[in-house]
Amino acid sequence: MAHSADQAPVPRHFARSGPLTGTIRVPGDKSISHRALMLSALCVGQSRISGLLEGEDVLATAAAMCAMGAQIERGADDIWTVHGVGVGGLMQPAQALDMGNSGTSTRLLMGLVASHPITAMFTGDASLSRRPMARVTDPLGEMGAEFNASPGGTLPLMVRGISPAVPISYRLPVASAQVKSAILLAALNTPGTTTVIEPVATRDHSEKMLKGFGADLMVETDADGVRHIHVTGPCDLTAQDIEVPGDPSSAAFFIVAALIVPGSDLTIENVGMNITRTGIITVLEQMGGQIERLNERTVGGEPVADLRVRASDLTGITVDPTIVPSMVDEFPVFFIAAAMASGTTVTSGLDELRVKESDRLATMARGLEAIGVDVEEREDGLVITGSSAAPLRGGGLVATLLDHRIAMSFAVAGLVSEQGVDVDDTAPIATSFPDFLNLLGRSTGAA
Ligand code: S3P
Repeated sequence: MAHSADQAPVPRHFARSGPLTGTIRVPGDKSISHRALMLSALCVGQSRISGLLEGEDVLATAAAMCAMGAQIERGADDIWTVHGVGVGGLMQPAQALDMGNSGTSTRLLMGLVASHPITAMFTGDASLSRRPMARVTDPLGEMGAEFNASPGGTLPLMVRGISPAVPISYRLPVASAQVKSAILLAALNTPGTTTVIEPVATRDHSEKMLKGFGADLMVETDADGVRHIHVTGPCDLTAQDIEVPGDPSSAAFFIVAALIVPGSDLTIENVGMNITRTGIITVLEQMGGQIERLNERTVGGEPVADLRVRASDLTGITVDPTIVPSMVDEFPVFFIAAAMASGTTVTSGLDELRVKESDRLATMARGLEAIGVDVEEREDGLVITGSSAAPLRGGGLVATLLDHRIAMSFAVAGLVSEQGVDVDDTAPIATSFPDFLNLLGRSTGAA
C-alpha cells in the first residue's frame, strides 16, 4: 500500500479558479490516527476507531501492528476494529516493516519495538531513507535497545529490542513530538519511571491518549514552563472507542486557499483545535485572515470547531519563532499565503523543516522562485515579499521531492496564478490526504 519511489509520478496542472464555497470535511487527524492504532494494538480486547485517516502513512502503521500480532479490520461502516496483543505482547515480525513515506510510523514504532524482546527491520521510500533517526535511536539505546542503521544513521535500520528495558530521564534536544512519543511508548513496557523533559511544548496527543487508555502517566510543569512527563511501567492499557477529529494540518490547505482566492466563503467542519496544533490559525489571523470558529465542542477528548473562512486581504508579518512547534507542518502552505500578502513576511527558527519529508525550506524556495514569487532562503527560514493580492505569475514546474505537503501547497498556489502551476508529482498526497484533489475540485466548483 505504501507509496514507493518506484511508483510512476502523477504530474498535474493547477489552474486559476473561482471562489471556494460550501461546506467540506477534512479527513481524520494523522497524528491521532497513528496513535489510536498503536495504543489499541497494545490493549487486550477490542477497540473501535471512527474517523481514522485512511492515508498511506496510517495504513503503514496498521500493517506493521498486524505484522507484530494485532488484528485490525475495517468494517463496512468505516469503523476500524483492533484486537490487541497487550503491552509486552508484540510478536516478532516475519518480514521487514515497510514504513513507506512515514516518519511518524517509523519513529513511534521504533519506541514500541525497543522495549519488546523482538527484532525488526525498518525500511522506507527514498524520502524517509534520508531522514535522521539518531534522534530516536540515541534515547532508545540508553534504554538498552540496539540499532544497526545505514551509514548516516538512516533507514534501512534494524532494531533489536530488549525486555526488561531500563527507564531513563531524557531531556529532548529538539522540539519533536515524535521523539517524545517514541520514548513514552517504550516506557509502557519498561519497569520503573521513565521521564521525558520537554523544554519546548510540542503536540500532546500521546500524553492525552495514553492517559485515556489508562497508562500511569503524569505531567508536571516546572517554574520555567518546562514539561516533565513521567510514565511508570509496565502499564496495562484498556481497550477504547475512539473518535478521531479532523486534521488541522489538512484543513490548513483549504484555510489558506479560501483566504487568498477572491470571493471565497468556505466552511470546514470538525477541525481539531488542540492548541499545540493551531499556530497556523493564530498567524493567519495576525495577518488579517477572517477565520471564524463555530460550534466549538469536544470530540474524542480533543477540542474541535467548524471553521468559516472568508477571502481576506493579508498583510505580511514577522512570525514569532516560539509559535513554530504548533504549526511545524503548516509552513509550506503558510508560505503561499505570504506570497499573496502585502509587504514582507519573515520566518526564522525553522531548522526542523530541513529534515521533513523533503528539505521544506529549499523545496519551497525553489518552487516559489519557479512561479515568480520574491523569496529569499535563509539558514533557518524564508523571507517572502508578497504580491499584495495580485495573482502570482505561475507557469513554472514545481519539484515536490516525494513531499505531500509541497504538492498540496503548490496546488493551492495554482488557484491564484495567471498561468497555472505545474506540479511534477501529486501521488504523495495519498500519504496524508487521499481525497484532497476531489475536495479541491468540489470546493472550487471545478468538479
Ligand atoms: C508528528 C510530529 C511532527 C510532525 C509530524 C507528525 C507526530 O514531527 O512534523 O508530521 O505525529 O508526532 P516532529 O516530531 O519531527 O516535529
